[in-house]
Amino acid sequence: MPALASVSALPSSSGPSSGPSSGPSSALPSGPSSAPSLAAASTSAASARARGLAGLGPLVLGPYSVETPVILAPMAGVSEAPYRVLALGFGAGLTPTELVSAKGLEFKNSRTAHYLAHDPAREPLLMVQIFGGDPEVMACAAAEVTARGARIVDINMGCPVRKVTKSGAGSALMTDPSRAAAIVAAIRARVGDEVPITAKIRSGWDDAHRNAVEVGLCLERAGLDAIAIHPRTREQGYAGRADWREITRLKAALSIPVIANGDIATPSDADRVIRETGCDAVMIGRAALGRPWVFRVFAAAVRGEAAPSPLSAAEETDVILTHFEAHQRHRGGDEVHAVREFRQHLIWYSRGRRGHGRFRADILRETSRAKVASMIERFFQQAEMDEERAEIDYDERRAHG
Ligand SMILES: Cc1cc2nc3c(=O)[nH]c(=O)nc-3n(C[C@H](O)[C@H](O)[C@H](O)COP(=O)(O)O)c2cc1C
Repeated sequence: MPALASVSALPSSSGPSSGPSSGPSSALPSGPSSAPSLAAASTSAASARARGLAGLGPLVLGPYSVETPVILAPMAGVSEAPYRVLALGFGAGLTPTELVSAKGLEFKNSRTAHYLAHDPAREPLLMVQIFGGDPEVMACAAAEVTARGARIVDINMGCPVRKVTKSGAGSALMTDPSRAAAIVAAIRARVGDEVPITAKIRSGWDDAHRNAVEVGLCLERAGLDAIAIHPRTREQGYAGRADWREITRLKAALSIPVIANGDIATPSDADRVIRETGCDAVMIGRAALGRPWVFRVFAAAVRGEAAPSPLSAAEETDVILTHFEAHQRHRGGDEVHAVREFRQHLIWYSRGRRGHGRFRADILRETSRAKVASMIERFFQQAEMDEERAEIDYDERRAHG
């Protein structure tokens, strides 16, 4: 194993601002609580299985060691710099970007470049997810994103959206393991050994073609450093439960770290998936929508500590306002557009709170930044939770993995 560099994956809560900044608040992320370190000891899969989150060792990716192996899932329209910085500050160990088009990078598309905007002081271990079907184009994209600050390159092999799969990218790569491996090999040849390469796969294309193990073995041989699996087929979309037995099979077959994803919403879900599969890390998607603070409880469990007490309404309001302001700065320019974009986050933030229907209707009518900020303040300060765990509602067409 190469010498481990001590690279902090976490931002400080002050400092220059592409991410949340603003006033002091006890709820706001308070800096590196789980920075990767030189500690390299890796807990055996067997004891990790027994102790759940508390037994997970650091996730070693090439020269980096991620102390908290709890990862925010890449999510289109969600995993932008302001949200990633919040999640990191609350204890997530890694926060990949949403999928970024390799073709868009090739053609220097300005929207694509926007996905790479980040503050290196807050995100020193930037992990960028790219998608594409052509090994050479993907290698060029990997070179481009690393030149722009990415330390880890992740390859999307799970996106079910037709626009993506018809060009041989996303989950279409599950149908062509040798091309998927050629992509890893081409990226490795271009970026060298110091840049970890990861991939995020599904179970396969459809029920008749569940080939995650075959794909995983091909990718490992081609030089992949770690693999995440969302164990549903492309055909399944998000239907049914994620089949964690696929994770068990992948973990048993591969030597590289396996990251479990799919239906992990709480530390006890994480404990269960670790015990059942022996995975090396967990990845949290929908449970973090409108809940960036969810990583506090996962990070505490990794440290073997009791769950922290929930944030107060005032603290949550501070987080939401910080996110809102950071989103406006991150978007820059067009205030109305930035306010409109943030509506989806507000819908998720308001989930399960009394009066959310009325709040949603109100924010859909409002485009002024100042007015929306005061609506956020009014609603979230007083809105009580209706239920313990509200339904996660999201637009499946926006889900790219
Ligand atoms: C709104 C949304 C956007 C997503 N975008 C991406 C993406 O850009 N790349 C990706 O690999 N997966 C994407 N996914 C899939 C998630 O990363 C994750 O695999 C999936 O939600 C299952 O995990 P969960 O049960 O924890 O939500 C997206 C999911 C959602 C809900």
